Amino acid sequence: MPSLDQALRAALAARENLLAVLHAQGTDCYRLFHGSQEGAPGLTVDRYGPQLLVQSFHQPLEADDLHSIVGSVEACLGQPLLLVYNDRSKSNSRIDRDPTLFQAEDAALEDMVSREWGLNYRVRGRHAGQDPLLFLDLRNARGWVKANSAGKAVLNLFAYTCGVGLCAAAGGASEVINLDFAQGNLAVGQENGALNPELPTMQFIQSDYFPAIRQLADLPISSRRGQKLPSYPRLQPRQFELVFLDPPAWAKSAFGTVDLLRDYQSLLKPALLATAEGGTLVCCNNLAKVEMSDWRAQVLRCAEKLGRQVQDCQVIVPAPDFPSQDAKPPLKTLILHL
Ligand SMILES: C[S@@+](CC[C@H](N)C(=O)[O-])C[C@H]1O[C@@H](n2cnc3c(N)ncnc32)[C@H](O)[C@@H]1O
Repeated sequence: MPSLDQALRAALAARENLLAVLHAQGTDCYRLFHGSQEGAPGLTVDRYGPQLLVQSFHQPLEADDLHSIVGSVEACLGQPLLLVYNDRSKSNSRIDRDPTLFQAEDAALEDMVSREWGLNYRVRGRHAGQDPLLFLDLRNARGWVKANSAGKAVLNLFAYTCGVGLCAAAGGASEVINLDFAQGNLAVGQENGALNPELPTMQFIQSDYFPAIRQLADLPISSRRGQKLPSYPRLQPRQFELVFLDPPAWAKSAFGTVDLLRDYQSLLKPALLATAEGGTLVCCNNLAKVEMSDWRAQVLRCAEKLGRQVQDCQVIVPAPDFPSQDAKPPLKTLILHL
């Protein structure tokens, strides 16, 4: 087993060309070390613009290791970065609890702006949520949306901080609707819109997925065992030329359960129906234990059952800053041309 220092140096060397490409395309946020695949399971090192985010998931880092990571990355990039270290190895821990190990400067914990595909994004190294407000492994899918949205009405489902919507707006979409049930996430999406004032404005719908997509798809909304449902925004049935479906692995609400392992169909079916004939549905599954071949077959079967013929099905893989030894990255993305 190589030392952490050796593994990190190898990872940085392997990214030399990629980093040049990313910088040239206006991207300054990427994964520098993907520990599970590069020799240190449970450790990730990400750059988000001016910030370096180191996260440990299995055990806390030694102070020497942390300092040597920062030294190697700064030498590789030729610039200083503001370090945030989140030790998440204890239950739900997001803070460097041991001040003798490391304490982030106040400046490092402030809200920052990072760039991807030439667009500005709000990033925050430490907050109540899981992620610094932008999932880096979805970069290639966002790039695809930016390149394929011109003139299209785009529906971004499970929008989170609306990165996909922002790419659609930048790609010339005629209309962009971002849908998520978390107002805090949509508020960051609005901030992302404001950070790119040259783009047309996006729309935001705060709603649970199930009632929203079922109304758009013109399907009934049924309550479970006759229970009274919470109120939800009313929407007219309609279809979109481009629909992006990127749900979390599991989430339960009063309206239904998002369960990517056991029931992808109940998410996919209404999303397919809300996609126009001749339109495109991009769908994702980020659950590592789901095999691409099984999931792809399930997706195609669901479309067939609905009588929606898939003209073409393409795969988007994460960029090489998310290497995968077995060529089975956890995040799987399919583009269905209907
Ligand atoms: C994994 S993130 C999606 C990532 C996102 N597509 C992106 O581009 O980064 C999950 C999002 O789903 C939202 N969510 C989870 N369950 C939901 C539901 N039942 N209805 C609407 N949104 C939901 C969460 O609020 C969160 O923003």
